[in-house]
Amino acid sequence: MRKKIVAGNWKLNKNLEEGLSLASEIINIAKDELHNQAILVINPPFIHLSSLQKLIPQNTNIRLGSQNCYHQKSGAFTGEISAEMLKSVGVQYTIVGHSERREYFNETAEQLAQKVKLLLEVGITPIFCCGESLSIRESGSHLAFVAQQITDSLFDLSVEDIQKIVIAYEPIWAIGTGKTASSAQAQEMHAYLRNHLAQKYSQEIAQNISILYGGSCNPQNAKELFACADIDGGLIGGASLKSRDFITIAQSF
Ligand code: 13P
Repeated sequence: MRKKIVAGNWKLNKNLEEGLSLASEIINIAKDELHNQAILVINPPFIHLSSLQKLIPQNTNIRLGSQNCYHQKSGAFTGEISAEMLKSVGVQYTIVGHSERREYFNETAEQLAQKVKLLLEVGITPIFCCGESLSIRESGSHLAFVAQQITDSLFDLSVEDIQKIVIAYEPIWAIGTGKTASSAQAQEMHAYLRNHLAQKYSQEIAQNISILYGGSCNPQNAKELFACADIDGGLIGGASLKSRDFITIAQSF
């Protein structure tokens, strides 16, 4: 059975006090009201990780995640954070290759492949993001484009390692725009990517990889999206900043 996952990407939002308060609300509401098997991942800014880790009780389905890591192990890279450092503060999931990082920070497919490798080495699950721009979708090449992103950064992984990856399909035109992909558009892409993984590895392996949808996912549309055969949860931006909305999305399986 594939894991059902709802991950909140807080991006550049919330100071420490606000972040701790949001995380506490999520933890408390989840404890009382979330009774399905969904794994909740909270991805705050780096500097909140250590404090937030102390809030998360043992034996819950809530996990700590980060939004990025550096693509080198250690060394003279002022201002960067390594996979090993993240591991040392209790991080279990890390978002890799978000379209905002690809676009604003010029992250390349090779760097993303290195990040994935370093995260796996320390036992952190990468949430590998992929997705096309509006112009690529309108040109009709979106399926091949997104599959190529996966080929370029993930297809050097061993059979063992590919099974440790979570994929997040986030069409860029749906991020922060309020314009979500329809469930048919999302399902088409997810099924295509799963088939792409099956061609390279095997059907059995592809069936076990969780593929999340991200892009204006909210309490109103989550149920329809999550009902699709190949959608295993969501990577949530704006709606993850409101505890009630985030939990409602997690209850949408
Ligand atoms: P929104 O949910 O705000 O559209 O953001 C999606 C996203 O980028 C999550 O990583």
